[in-house]
Amino acid sequence: MRIGVIGASGFIGRAFCQLAVSQGHQVVAFSRQSKPDSAGMTWRVFNEAPDMSELDAVVNYAGESVAQRWSEAKKKEFYTSRVGVTQKILTQIKALPEQERPSVLVSSSAVGYYGDCGDRELDESSPLGSGYLAELCADWEAAAMEGRALGLRVVVGRIGIVLGAGGAAWQKMRAAFLMGAGGPLGSGDHWMPWVHVDDVAGATLFAIENTRLEGTVNFASPDPRTNRDFTKSLAKSLNRPAFLPAPAFALQLVFGEFGKHLLDSYRVFPKVLECEGYPFKHETLEKCLNAMRE
Ligand SMILES: NC(=O)c1ccc[n+]([C@@H]2O[C@H](COP(=O)([O-])OP(=O)(O)OC[C@H]3O[C@@H](n4cnc5c(N)ncnc54)[C@H](OP(=O)(O)O)[C@@H]3O)[C@@H](O)[C@H]2O)c1
Repeated sequence: MRIGVIGASGFIGRAFCQLAVSQGHQVVAFSRQSKPDSAGMTWRVFNEAPDMSELDAVVNYAGESVAQRWSEAKKKEFYTSRVGVTQKILTQIKALPEQERPSVLVSSSAVGYYGDCGDRELDESSPLGSGYLAELCADWEAAAMEGRALGLRVVVGRIGIVLGAGGAAWQKMRAAFLMGAGGPLGSGDHWMPWVHVDDVAGATLFAIENTRLEGTVNFASPDPRTNRDFTKSLAKSLNRPAFLPAPAFALQLVFGEFGKHLLDSYRVFPKVLECEGYPFKHETLEKCLNAMRE
């Protein structure tokens, strides 16, 4: 297949491109900057009118990181790089003759859709939550679902906290623990829907190849943990202590509005992927942490 990847230069995009090329697919990667082609990968510029022609599938992994201090200007960037980019992709696809359109769009969203849900177990049928991230995800998903009117099969991946070398979340956690400054966040009671980047890439390819998949799909591991439990396992795997808790007020002091969301609880399960038989590469947290140590 010829797979167009928007956000191909990012953490998840890179992992997906690598997997797709290794499986014999051709990747047409998009970036706002021009980049040199490599084996199995050609680059196109994601400009005002990005060229979406001659693609069998499109994967959308674009988005300005929300893991930073928020301002009104930043919120605009979060929105345009998600909702705006998704709309632009579909506008370009709509302009193609029907028989020349890709057949499937896999677009990203996040578990933030569910809002802070405490200990409640969540699957794809759980309702929209409240708060800024939930509203952002709702608009992002709605934009992607517009693809159905153009004849595309649309899969929206609600992604959890992605672990893996090169990922911002993992690098920050690992560095803090290696310095001996690791510990639970706030009370440590909130649930963390972690997932390894290999499984986000794998689930994306699975969604492209498995035509039964349609609609929203949780891209999270089947082993969510409370932050306290996660912290203990991480400390053990790195052979470091985990006794320095980061109190809620400190998180808010450092990260502002985003700091509050670091304590949101998402006990998310990948019901659709499990029902469809997706073979997780990193099914349990311990296996995942061991693999990342190697
Ligand atoms: N990593 C996680 O834990 C996680 C969790 C849940 C959801 N997600 C979502 O998954 C997506 C990818 O995450 P990531 O961690 O791979 O992010 P990342 O490493 O920061 O990469 C983001 C990508 O988005 C592209 N991009 C940013 N703004 C853009 C714009 N205005 N127009 C076009 N492209 C734009 C960048 O491409 P260029 O700079 O090359 O143009 C870059 O390749 C994001 O939407 C993120 O919200 C990630």
